[in-house]
Parts: sequence; C-alpha cells; structure tokens
Amino acid sequence: MSAAITGLGTAIPERIITNADLEAYLDTSDEWIVERTGIRERRQAGPNDTTASLAIAAGAAAIKDAGLVPDDIGLLIVATATPDQALPAVSAFVQDGLGLHCGAFDVSAACSGFAYGLVTASSLLAGGTIKSALVIGAETLTRFIDPNDRSTRVLFGDGAGAVVVQPAPDGMGLLGWDLGCDGSATHILQIPPGKKWVEMDGREVFRRAVRAVVDTSARTLERSGLTAADIDWFVPHQANQRIIDAACDRLHIPAERTIVNVDRFGNTSAASIPLALADTPVKDGDVVLLAGFGAGMTWASAAIRWQKEAQS
Ligand code: UT7
Repeated sequence: MSAAITGLGTAIPERIITNADLEAYLDTSDEWIVERTGIRERRQAGPNDTTASLAIAAGAAAIKDAGLVPDDIGLLIVATATPDQALPAVSAFVQDGLGLHCGAFDVSAACSGFAYGLVTASSLLAGGTIKSALVIGAETLTRFIDPNDRSTRVLFGDGAGAVVVQPAPDGMGLLGWDLGCDGSATHILQIPPGKKWVEMDGREVFRRAVRAVVDTSARTLERSGLTAADIDWFVPHQANQRIIDAACDRLHIPAERTIVNVDRFGNTSAASIPLALADTPVKDGDVVLLAGFGAGMTWASAAIRWQKEAQS
C-alpha cells in the first residue's frame, strides 16, 4: 500500500515586506536581491501570528480540502525550525487548536522538514494502523533573523502549508523517496548556542544545496523507476532562484515544469514545499518530484504519482 496527498491548505501572514521596504533601512537594493535571489517580497508574522496559529490555519484548510473532519486524522506531524517555545512541541498546540485526537510530534529537519514528515507519515500509513495523517510545515523565521543583517534579512519569510495523506493503491501516491543528513556541516547554517539570530555561510550553503538537490532527486528518481522526462512537476525547496535554476539545469528538468514562488514568499523553510505545492496545477496521474535541503545539512526528496481521492 502507498499513500497519497488528498488535501492541501496554506496560511500566510497578511503583512508583506517588499524589497523596497528593506532598501529603506538596510544597505541593500531591489536590484541586488532580485538578481542574486529572485525574491521580490516575503510575508512577516503579525503580533497575533505564531508558528502554531499558522499551522492550525493551514491544517484546518487541508482537512477541509480532503473532505474530512478532525476526528478522522490519525497522526499529526509538524515540521518546523521555529517553534514558538522550546517545550512542549508546536504539534501539541496544533493538536489542541484543531481538536484532533491522535498522536502528535514535531520534526526538526529545517527546510527538509516537510519532506521528512511526509515520508514518515506515508510509511506509518502503509503499516495500516492509521487511515489518515496531517503533515504541516510552519515557520515564523523572521523572528529568528537579525533585522539589521542584510545577508539573511532579505531571504527569509513566514508561512505554513499542510497536507492530508491517505492510503493509495500501489503505483499511486508516494513512489520513492530519499532522506539524508551530513552533520559535519552544522556550522554553515545555525543559531549557535546562546545566540538569538540565524547565522549562515551563504556561499557554502549555496554550493552544497545544488549538489544535495541534484543527488537526492537522482536517487529518488532511480528508486521510483523514473527519469527526469517522467516528471510533470518539480517542486523544489524555495531558497534562491539561482539554486533552483542550477539544480534544474543539472537534472534536465525544464523551467516550465518547475514551480517557483520564492519571488512572493522568500525562503519559508519547512513551509516552502507545501506552499509551492499549492501553486502546482497538478492533476491525477501527474508525477510530482519534491526536493528540499536545509540546515544540518539535511536533504529529502519524494516522487509522488498524484491521486487526489483517497482509496475507498
Ligand atoms: O534553506 C537554506 C537556507 N539558505 C540558503 O539556501 C542560502 C544559500 N545561499 C544563497 O542563496 C546566496 O549565497 C546568498 C543569496 C545568501 C548570497 O548570494 P551570493 O551571490 O552568494 O553573494 P555573496 O555572499 O557572495 O556576497 C556577494 C556580495 C558581498 O559583498 P562583497 O564582499 O563582494 O563586497 C556581500 O557582502 O554581496 C554582499 N551582500 C549584499 N549586498 C546587498 C550580501 N547580502 C547583500 C544584500 N544586499 N542583501
């Protein structure tokens, strides 16, 4: 048995921060940001937004989209790098906020977290004990970025995306996946102990990111018995237009089949892939390849043959 995405929902804060807004107080320019990253604007959590509140809004929308009610959900996974507090997990607040009656835990794999969560949920569903799972990627990254650090402030944004995963017949849903981590690179993207803000060696992350996306995607394609030509929609983690372009080039996936929303949302970490999925004009039978990378370094990819309706 396999597992398919049968519901999708998103939540984005109302406040838009444009490049012009950043130009007004940082030594940066719209031209630099667009040319080096492709980002034009990003969302910023308002005073009443939390990682949990964004996750709850996205999760409620996904449950509704799947035609389910909260009691139908058998497992909740929240992927986030920006929990509202260290203890307890964000998923506990989300479980309560959505009125779920099921197990709930967080996944901390930075920008790869959503794909890690999706693979975990799908594997548990395949075991047959649960009939549906809710996987949410939710972040309030702007709260962990030094507002005066131009090298990170321009990149990151807030938001949440959620999917419901349910059993699918063999050959549909999740076809293959790859998860990885190289913990020798923890220092290139981190909030060091006792510090408040994200610190990043951007060039090193860039270099490793392209390689990670290409290698993990190639492994997932091979395990799924697919080639790049079979991919209808490539949904990469949205960190930088140039990383996406370089990865697509090496994977031989054309731009027309690649989903990009980094221009509107910047890098929303674990929320980026589900937010991009919501922009994907996918139809039943299409093959979707997801690929993420992030702090750790972690990486994750999954190939899915789309089937919106759950197996009856
Ligand atoms: O989800 C994973 C998280 N992170 C990433 O994926 C980030 C991966 N890295 C990147 O996307 C890129 O490396 C950045 C966008 C962070 C930087 O782009 P770059 O082309 O690698 O620039 P750079 O770091 O090599 O910096 C070039 C110059 C530097 O000035 P000098 O030393 O040449 O005088 C920077 O100080 O650009 C400067 N710079 C800026 N200038 C204007 C750095 N940030 C800015 C800025 N505005 N916001």
